[in-house]
Amino acid sequence: MYTQVLEMDELTYHYPVMYREIVGMINPSECNVIVDYTLSMGGHTLKFLDLMKENAMLIGLDRDRDSLDIASEKIGQRENVKLVKADFSKIDAVLDELNIDKVDAVLFDFGISMYQMKKIERGFSFANDGPLDMRMDKDVCISAYDLVNNLSESELADIFFRYGEERFSRRIVRMIVSARRDWPITTTQQLAELVVRAVPIRSFKYKIHPATRVFQALRIAVNNELEVIADSLKHAVGRLNSGGRIAVISFHSLEDRIVKHTFKELAACGDISILTKKPLVPSENEKNENNASRSAKLRVAQKS
Ligand SMILES: C[S@@+](CC[C@H](N)C(=O)[O-])C[C@H]1O[C@@H](n2cnc3c(N)ncnc32)[C@H](O)[C@@H]1O
Repeated sequence: MYTQVLEMDELTYHYPVMYREIVGMINPSECNVIVDYTLSMGGHTLKFLDLMKENAMLIGLDRDRDSLDIASEKIGQRENVKLVKADFSKIDAVLDELNIDKVDAVLFDFGISMYQMKKIERGFSFANDGPLDMRMDKDVCISAYDLVNNLSESELADIFFRYGEERFSRRIVRMIVSARRDWPITTTQQLAELVVRAVPIRSFKYKIHPATRVFQALRIAVNNELEVIADSLKHAVGRLNSGGRIAVISFHSLEDRIVKHTFKELAACGDISILTKKPLVPSENEKNENNASRSAKLRVAQKS
């Protein structure tokens, strides 16, 4: 049992990105209800719970059942904690179901966790050879396999270009389409090898692996990640008490652009005031400790 717990912690070890800055901005000790819309392993949630009043309530959502189960084990049974498997685009339904009208602070920490990334069978990474899957929610039918093997050449190129900002998208898709005529592309490394064969060698000088952008693009498309952000932020703000705060961490420019524009739109209507004129970024210390935090951007706003 002891060994099992150690292995699980090692496997799921996750730094809650910029948690000091977030705690400083939302002040959990003053909150009666906090919603963590991207619970994952509960990294931020556990920090909040340490600071919250005993009778204050925390609601955690994730659309990944496995992550939710691990978070639930880590947090343990507590009267004041409700963990729900749900997509954060269903914010209103979740809060209605729990009979909660307004909350004091919310956090969105987009993307996937290290745990999801490292689980070979989830197919998010080409570091090991996993199935081409990439679904955060395993109850959803369409996986990366379906997109890669069934979409038309132009649909696939559009995904790589829009969500990966991949400048060799057409060359990559031509390689994929030619390969899939002979056999379906079933694994992450098969796809990564096709990308490597398609992109010109001169582009290898960039720091990132040539398949990184294609994998990011597919993940975003499979999980419909960008389309739900603006509406979810608006609904989350709608549920905040006056003076309540919303904190949002993004990891790439496509996400951050949506957050920035949505905050501006809400501020123009007088719904919020933006507390971070420029996004906050991790300290050098944090970046050194946790390389995965290096591209994080934190934006925070306060409900009027
Ligand atoms: C970067 S992790 C969050 C890490 C967490 N803050 C922590 O410190 O442990 C992002 C999590 O959000 C979840 N997620 C992403 N999009 C979601 C959505 N639309 N609805 C619900 N959960 C989502 C993912 O499954 C993943 O577990």
